[in-house]
Amino acid sequence: MIVSPSLLAADFANLGKEIEMINRSKADWLHFDVMDGVFVPNISFGFPVLESVARLCQKPLDVHLMIENPMKFVRQFSDLGTYMMTLHYEACPHLHRNIQQIHEAGMKAGVALNPHTPVSLVEDVLADADMILLMTVNPGFGGQKFIEHSIDKVRKLRRVIDEMGTDTLIQVDGGVNLETGRRLAEAGVDVLVAGSYVFGAERPEERVESLRCL
Ligand code: DX5
Ligand code: ZN
Repeated sequence: MIVSPSLLAADFANLGKEIEMINRSKADWLHFDVMDGVFVPNISFGFPVLESVARLCQKPLDVHLMIENPMKFVRQFSDLGTYMMTLHYEACPHLHRNIQQIHEAGMKAGVALNPHTPVSLVEDVLADADMILLMTVNPGFGGQKFIEHSIDKVRKLRRVIDEMGTDTLIQVDGGVNLETGRRLAEAGVDVLVAGSYVFGAERPEERVESLRCL
């Protein structure tokens, strides 16, 4: 299992220490949530923070854009060393072109789906996208309750990807802990994002390891 701890749940007064913990841990990526207060009802952090994080973080940066007009910033994310740039299906009327533009900028391209968006709507970009992110809570806040229906969505998407024979990764984000993570793994997830489950723990590195073993 690939594990991408979500920085949104970190202690921002001790950001340097939190990143050092991630560097020491067995985390595969670091998940960085950008919110604009328009696409989602919350604002998180942006380029100045990403710049500092990128300088210190030794893990690939997995950037989840919960913003309108994400393509406006493709060059800046690429220049800051983003590994995976994930935009929302619901914010992109020209998704196919946008995936190409992300690739041209030298990054991997992810497509995120809100809980109400069916997986069938991304079938025609599965061959192009590197990852599909299924939101397992409504985007905008950490620490929310896992939406049970997500398990069915993961199973459905797994089936389609296997039938098509693409190597698109399935990522889930929201309400992930050891219990939901285990069921998501069984349903066919490749990448677990976990915010409060990792950063809210007394021994976050152990939590990363426990998810990685799923
Ligand atoms: C929510 C963010 C998540 C968030 C997950 O909109 O996209 O990445 O940090 O937090 P937990 O794991 O606490 O549900
Ligand atoms: Zn996220």
